[in-house]
Amino acid sequence: MSADRREFLTLLGSSAVAACVGRSSAAALDSASQADSVGPLRTPAALGAGELAAMPAEQQVWPGSTTRLLTFGGSYPGPTLRAQAGDRFAVRVVNRLAEPTNVHWHGLVAPAQMDGHPADALSPGAVRDYTFPIAQRAGTYWYHPHVDGTTGRQVYSGMAGFFLVADAEESRLGLPAGEREVALLLQDRRSYRDRSFTYAPGPMDVLSGYLGDAALVNGVPGAALPLAAALYRFRFLNGSNARIFRLGFSDGRVLHVIGTDGGLLDRPMAAASVDLGPGERLDALIDLSDVVPGRSVWLRSLAFAGGGMGMGMGGLATQGAPMELLRLDVDRLGPLTPPLPARLVTLERLDPSRAVATRRFVFEMTMPPFAGGARINGRSFSPSRVDERVRLGDLEVWEFVNASNESHPVHVHAASFQVISRSRGGLGPQDLGWKDTVLTWPGETVRVAIRFSHYPGLYVLHCHNLEHEDAGMMLNVEVE
Ligand code: C2O
Ligand code: CU
Ligand code: CU
Repeated sequence: MSADRREFLTLLGSSAVAACVGRSSAAALDSASQADSVGPLRTPAALGAGELAAMPAEQQVWPGSTTRLLTFGGSYPGPTLRAQAGDRFAVRVVNRLAEPTNVHWHGLVAPAQMDGHPADALSPGAVRDYTFPIAQRAGTYWYHPHVDGTTGRQVYSGMAGFFLVADAEESRLGLPAGEREVALLLQDRRSYRDRSFTYAPGPMDVLSGYLGDAALVNGVPGAALPLAAALYRFRFLNGSNARIFRLGFSDGRVLHVIGTDGGLLDRPMAAASVDLGPGERLDALIDLSDVVPGRSVWLRSLAFAGGGMGMGMGGLATQGAPMELLRLDVDRLGPLTPPLPARLVTLERLDPSRAVATRRFVFEMTMPPFAGGARINGRSFSPSRVDERVRLGDLEVWEFVNASNESHPVHVHAASFQVISRSRGGLGPQDLGWKDTVLTWPGETVRVAIRFSHYPGLYVLHCHNLEHEDAGMMLNVEVE
C-alpha cells in the first residue's frame, strides 16, 4: 500500500511538471509536415517464447530525430507474439523500467494471477513468468501494460504489441499469409516539435481522451507499404488511447471483414467503412488485384461526427477528424484473386433468451473530470473493492449504458461476449462474432450476451479510453 502511495505521489509530481512542459509546447504541434513524411511501414520482430523486457529505448519515429520511448523488447511496437491454440504460452517479463509495470494479454483468457490485474504490478527490477494455456480461437489479440493510473502514459510511450493466435480451423481456409498478411497497429500521437511523446493530459484531455494530430501505423507517421496487385489479409488493431478510427480507402474500395476481436466470423462481410474504437481489432481481406502497378491507395480514417466533445487541441487532434493512415503502393502484379470463401468458421451463438441474469453498467463523466469524474454505476475504481460477483458458466446479458457526451469503448477481461443490440441502430461488421471490446457512442446503450467459462478470480471491466480508465472508469469483477 505504501509503495502504491509513493508511486502515486511521484506520478502527481511528474505529471504536474509534464503539464507545464506540455502546455508551453502545445502550440508547437507540427501537423503540417505529416503528409510529406512518408516512411516505410515497420514490421515488428516475431517472438514465440523467451524474454520480454519492459525497457526504455530511443527510436526514430519522425525522420531526422529520435524519440525516447518505453517499450517491450526495445522496440515500438513490441515484438509480435505468435502462438497456436492449445499451446502453453510462456514468456519471462523483466521490468527494466524505473517504474512499476505489468502485462495484460488483451482478449486472451488467462488465469487471474497471469492477467495483469491493475493492482498486480511488477516493481522495477522484478521478473515474472507469465504462462498459461492458449484457450482462444485463432485471432488478433494484443498485449500492453495495465497498472492502475499509468496505463495511458505507458501505452502512449510505446508499450504495445500484437499477440496473434492461429488454429487448425483457420489454417484450413488458406487465408493470405506470409508477406500478404499484414498486422497494423493504428495509433495517434501529438507531433510536438521536439518529437517527444510528451504525455500530459489536462482536464479536457481526461474528458475526451488524449487525442493526437498524427496517425502512426506500427509506430510510423505517414507510413507506406509496397505490395503486389493481389489479395491481402490486414489485421487492424486500434491501440490508440482515445482515437476512434472509421477505416476506409481513398478510392472507396471495400473491406471484406472476416474477423473481429475474438477471431473469425462465420462468413465474410463487405463494408465500405468500419468503425474501430480503442482496444478493438478487425481482420479483413483487401482485394488490390485491380490496382495498376505504379498506383497508390490510401488507407484512411474517414471524417465523422458524434464521437464526443473530443476538442483536444483542435485541428486533427479532434475526435472524428479525417486522417491518412497508410499509403499502399502497388508496385507489381500479383496472383489472381481466388473467389473469397463463402463460409469461414463455425460460430457458437449465445442465446440471450437463456440468460440467468441481466446487469446494467452506466458510464458517466462529470465536468471537470477530476477525482470521481469517470464512473461506472456511480463508482470510480478501487483496487481492493469487489464490485460485481459473477458465477463461472452462467450466461448473462450485460447492458452498457453510455450516459455521457463521450464515447466509451467498453472492455471486459476473462470472457468474450456477443453484441445483441445497439440502441442507436443496427450492428456494424465490427460488432459481429466474438468480442471483448465494444464501442458505445454518446447516449447509446449496447447489450451483450456474456459467459465467463474459464477461471475463477479477480478481473476487471473498464473503458478502454485509457484516460477514462486511468481516471477510474473501471470495476473489479470477481468470477466465482
Ligand atoms: Cu486492453 Cu484491461 O485492457
Ligand atoms: Cu483486456
Ligand atoms: Cu470512456
